[in-house]
Amino acid sequence: MTRRRRIYEGKAKVLFEGPEPGTLVQYFKDDATAFNNQKHGIITGKGVLNNRISEYLMMRLADIGIPTHFVRRLNMREQLVREVEIIPVEVVVRNIAAGSLVKRYGLKEGQQLPRSIVEYYYKSDELGDPMCSEEHITAFGWANTQDIDDILSMSLRINDYLSGLFLGVGLRLVDFKLEFGRLYSEDDMRIVLADEISPDNCRLWDAKSNEKMDKDRFRQDLGGVKEAYQEVARRLGILPDGGNLDMKGPKTIQ
Ligand code: TMP
Repeated sequence: MTRRRRIYEGKAKVLFEGPEPGTLVQYFKDDATAFNNQKHGIITGKGVLNNRISEYLMMRLADIGIPTHFVRRLNMREQLVREVEIIPVEVVVRNIAAGSLVKRYGLKEGQQLPRSIVEYYYKSDELGDPMCSEEHITAFGWANTQDIDDILSMSLRINDYLSGLFLGVGLRLVDFKLEFGRLYSEDDMRIVLADEISPDNCRLWDAKSNEKMDKDRFRQDLGGVKEAYQEVARRLGILPDGGNLDMKGPKTIQ
């Protein structure tokens, strides 16, 4: 294998220079971190599952007209993506009270929110991703008001679509985190969905039992992390019961 230039290494992924200009190879690691890197573990096989799950969800979102950085999956752990300039804002959309929202506002975990809530966090490991508002985003020049409008409308559409998609396979989309980037072409710039969508950055609960099927199993030491990710992939129809990673459609659960 030829040596590739490493562009960026994050906690769960590595970005390498892509085969042609304007592309990158996104490699999914098995590393899991929580609480801003204070807790670290290896979940064998997580990278393979997240590569598949994120590919599937990005493709479904592209089908409904959401522009994304995803081009195609290359192999078990890698996908080809377009090189974008990441906007340093993490967008969290919440439907059900969980995680930091419960702590911050003294809510009961599992409480349905009166409407979907969108929050912004400044993407900075050193600062522990502090929450921020549109005011901070525009004042500090991370994005302008037009960018924020685009990001907000895409995030709400993604939430509606994914909530339905997951509910169709017996999973409740409690909350999730998105990242966006600027994609430049010759004379134009547009904002596209970037990063990944997987059980690492979504909360997914079984619709019947409310069992956690996401990274909270790692954060809270509940065990069965890989099995939960596998079950999400299986329900989405991208991990058949036999275990070989073959592509099928989603299996609807009544
Ligand atoms: P929170 O409740 O801890 O704020 O998390 C909200 C959602 O965002 C949850 O689905 C997990 C995801 N998330 C990330 O993807 N990365 C992060 O660094 C954090 C804190 C949360």
